[in-house]
Amino acid sequence: MKEKVMLTGVRPSGNLTLGNYLGAIKNFVDRQETHKSYIFIADLHAITSPKDPQKLKEAVYNCVAMYLACGIDPSKTIVFRQSDVLEHGTLGFIMTFQTKMGELNRMTQFKYKSQAQSKDGVDTGLFVYPTLMVADILLYNTSIVPVGRDQQQHVELTRDLAERFNKRYGETFFMPDVYIAPVGNKILNLQNPLEKMNKSDNGDNKGTIFLMDDIEVAKKKIMSAKTDSLGKVHFDEENQPGISNLMSILSKITNEDFESIEKRFEGRGYGEFKREVAEVVAKLLTEIQANFNKYNNKNLLDEILANGAKKAQPTARDTLKRATKALGLN
Ligand code: TRP
Repeated sequence: MKEKVMLTGVRPSGNLTLGNYLGAIKNFVDRQETHKSYIFIADLHAITSPKDPQKLKEAVYNCVAMYLACGIDPSKTIVFRQSDVLEHGTLGFIMTFQTKMGELNRMTQFKYKSQAQSKDGVDTGLFVYPTLMVADILLYNTSIVPVGRDQQQHVELTRDLAERFNKRYGETFFMPDVYIAPVGNKILNLQNPLEKMNKSDNGDNKGTIFLMDDIEVAKKKIMSAKTDSLGKVHFDEENQPGISNLMSILSKITNEDFESIEKRFEGRGYGEFKREVAEVVAKLLTEIQANFNKYNNKNLLDEILANGAKKAQPTARDTLKRATKALGLN
């Protein structure tokens, strides 16, 4: 039986990369077999800074289609849009009232993002959005929140607030785990293998493969990835970060271990190795893009989202009810 609840929220920011896929999405896809899984598009979070409404709507559809294309299966994972389940807003509001200003002030994401906004004033949304994330997590009795390091502090805040609430008002919320590190290593920038492969690879994007990249362009990016002059396909992140990164990409896609890759490429050049990585990546992107085209249909997506919200809502309603009851509300 699927026991532990896994949940993640995704900002509708679009343009997913091979790094997002191999570092996070694929993991989620694998675990949807063994966990009760929820994935939602965090459109309420998206309005922490002003957005063009039409673009936001489109971005939500695009994001859902992309995740489905990557293998999130709506018959195994509850896929929904945050704003469709009104309990998020209500519990978010309640949790905001349980939070100290100091706790929110400490959030490094706030410090970092508010600096960028400070010219014309900082939106309070940016300040309080971690408490909405707290509500997102607590609503579904979540135990596992697979997030990146930048979000870890918010999951810790969730635990702090859940504990405080439970102490003050009686057992109400389930305690989530702080952070489950994604298995294996991060995928790095192909041109600068000391940095993460990033959505906002400023400049020419040569180091970042986007899942929607033209197949030939993606292959070229692999072929021109930075390597070294040692001339052997060997996993050594310190001395051969570029080659090690390509090995990680290959291994994560094909499940072949490093030892076997090293053996197969003994005495062969980097050119041949890169060609194989390029082929494997090309095949993956071709599949994802074909799936994307299949899912990129508003009627179909509306149906999937409506279904997901219907499945998510009862649990959210129960949790909110427990919380309002504990507080002496209705
Ligand atoms: N704040 C997360 C981000 O910016 C997205 C998010 C919202 C989330 N709610 C969540 C992630 C709940 C995990 C769990 O990426």
